[in-house]
Amino acid sequence: MELKRGTFSGSIGFVLAAAGSAVGLGNLWRFPYLAAQNGGGLFLIIYLILVLTFGFTLLVVEVAIGRKTKRSPLKAYGEIHPKWKWIGLFAVLVPFLILPYYCAIGGWVMKYCLVYLTGQGLNAVTPDYFTGFISGGAEPILLMAIYVLLTTFVIFRGINKGIERLSKILMPILLVIVAVLSIFSLTLSFTDGTVTRTGLEGLKIYIIPDLAGLTFKKFMNVLMNAMGQLFFSISVAMGIMVAYGSYFADGDNLVKSVGQIEFFDTLVAFMAGIMVILPLYVFLGRDAMDSSGPSLLFISMPRVFASMGSIGGILGAAFFVMVFFAAFTSSISIMEAVVASIMEKFNMSRKKATIVEAFLALILGTIVCLGYNSLYFELKLPNGSTGQILDLMDYLSTGILMPVVTISTCLLTGWVIKPDTIIAEATKNGEHFSRKGMFSVMLCFIAPVLLTILLLESLGIL
Ligand code: PHE
Repeated sequence: MELKRGTFSGSIGFVLAAAGSAVGLGNLWRFPYLAAQNGGGLFLIIYLILVLTFGFTLLVVEVAIGRKTKRSPLKAYGEIHPKWKWIGLFAVLVPFLILPYYCAIGGWVMKYCLVYLTGQGLNAVTPDYFTGFISGGAEPILLMAIYVLLTTFVIFRGINKGIERLSKILMPILLVIVAVLSIFSLTLSFTDGTVTRTGLEGLKIYIIPDLAGLTFKKFMNVLMNAMGQLFFSISVAMGIMVAYGSYFADGDNLVKSVGQIEFFDTLVAFMAGIMVILPLYVFLGRDAMDSSGPSLLFISMPRVFASMGSIGGILGAAFFVMVFFAAFTSSISIMEAVVASIMEKFNMSRKKATIVEAFLALILGTIVCLGYNSLYFELKLPNGSTGQILDLMDYLSTGILMPVVTISTCLLTGWVIKPDTIIAEATKNGEHFSRKGMFSVMLCFIAPVLLTILLLESLGIL
């Protein structure tokens, strides 16, 4: 029996769904911090150049593989070349590992949404509030489970009625909230004892390139940070863009759509910087710009909102609802990559495959939550950091498997089937592809080298 495949109803549906996947926690809690730490504008310029070259290349390749093969990520690589079938397995393992912990974090985001929406935001600022909550037993598990079920519901409804419809509603709202909050951040000013700090001063730190003491080594460091961030941000290396590409209509313009996805993703990342860095600087001072990850979202930002007085409660609510939208459209894409693969591999209906994956995510998600409670341990990872179960899963998937998947994808498409095969798929309706030369050099040489350095760094070898 041939299973029916869905198709996005048009390129806007595809672009918003893919942008929904790309715009996620990484844009909000990692991009701003990296920019602030890596010479402000210098990081932004390097990131932008990479978006137009490295990011563009990887996205075109994955979407083209999906559209060309019309297969789930698990089977698509084998369809391109039988000897490279194993990439599919790795590419599905990544979202399979990411989904449980992304949902655990999704549960934390829901907690803060509820706290702010019920006007309790000010209670969330005591130093131990966040750690008390995540190590507190039943509540994080319950919220994780609700988050998994919400995600399941969307995937259950399929490509058009589920993923596409939701993305068309949530992504524009997300953009508006981010725009309003970042414009507001520009107007901030706060007097701390005798010093007054303003949003515009913060903006200068964020966008003016800081070249002081720049050496080749530092430059390479900024380059690798920007590349690693972009790599994670565009949702490649985990089957998602292959899956979404397989639902992308043959007659639509692939190159143009990829450009739009990147524009959306980069715009939100840039505005997130304004929305996050400026208030951190204004209310908490320059040192607070170091904040990233969960401690940024759940500890520093609540402190910022509390310093704003009563308006902080409202802004905090808008902020966490926006974070929820960003995380939610990403988690549905993660689940879709796995579900599409289960459907195809076991010839299962969408509903059955979704239930199977939801069940697995619930079990693993519970283990992740217990990692802060009865299963707590401190594990030293090869990249030098120390973490719990969540960090271990993150390390295995994003630190190791993702670079492996993409390096192999570059070798397969750049050297075995050759860039022209991908270009032919991307231009099969006679579309214009102006960056062909750059695309081929990037795919065959630069991207695999950069990604190998990233992998060696993760492994602690470099
Ligand atoms: N690209 C998303 C971000 O920037 C995150 C993501 C990770 C999405 C993994 C899907 C899978 O946060």
